Amino acid sequence: MSDSLDGKSVLVTGASRGIGKEIAQIYAEVGVYVVGTRTAKGECRSPCNEWIIADFSNEDHIYRCADEIKELKPDILINNAGINTIGSFVSLDPKEFQKIQQVNVFAPFLFSQSVVPAMKSRGWGRIVNISSIWGKIGKEGRAPYAASKFALDGITLSIAAEHSKDGILANCVAPGFTDTELTRRVLGEDGIRQLTDMVPARRMASPREIAHFVYWLGSNQNSYITGQNIAIDGGFARV
Ligand code: NAI
Repeated sequence: MSDSLDGKSVLVTGASRGIGKEIAQIYAEVGVYVVGTRTAKGECRSPCNEWIIADFSNEDHIYRCADEIKELKPDILINNAGINTIGSFVSLDPKEFQKIQQVNVFAPFLFSQSVVPAMKSRGWGRIVNISSIWGKIGKEGRAPYAASKFALDGITLSIAAEHSKDGILANCVAPGFTDTELTRRVLGEDGIRQLTDMVPARRMASPREIAHFVYWLGSNQNSYITGQNIAIDGGFARV
């Protein structure tokens, strides 16, 4: 099978920064047409050919974005955008819980529904959902985020079970601690130091390291991996 993604297009949610920006960058480097989503207009150094402006905490934006994605018919969908709030279980704001499910689960669900029919008719498609190690193992203070990432794995499994026979391979990638704005804001410098001490590789991942594998899973080189949730975490979740 050819490795080439010539003529193919990719949709990357949350492509303006962090892991999503690196994923968009890699696809752009190999000449794939990249459509990204971001929450607001303005200056952005991400290399996307085209943007959809949508804030997934607004349900109407999700539906509008899904309609645009349906029109675009991307060959590859990367559901990357995600948010997190940490707090002790009883202190968690129920509205915040719902918002996290909307951004991290409902949006990827609807976007996946939007791309599957065209992928099926072409007999080729790749969906990569960005989960988390907190969608594989547990930790205190992360109920809304863990709920969303375990749910994303469930959706991915269902797509794989139903549509792998149509040439659509669907997988999750579960990053460990990755050096992005989200991590720095949520953990702070002290938190980062404490956590990297527990990682066998003794450092965070770079967004580029995550993006490389996401790219590979969403390429022709991946011809038989589907329904998996693969950690890229420097060994953290396994030791
Ligand atoms: P980030 O905060 O640097 O970037 C998140 C992206 O999501 C941004 O492009 C942002 O515009 C978009 N986004 C945020 N809120 C949104 C909203 N309401 N509507 C639409 N888009 C929105 O985060 P990072 O670290 O690059 O995370 C990317 C993905 O990787 C997320 O799904 C996150 O849960 C996951 N992840 C990140 C880890 C890390 O250590 N940074 C570890 C495990 C998973």
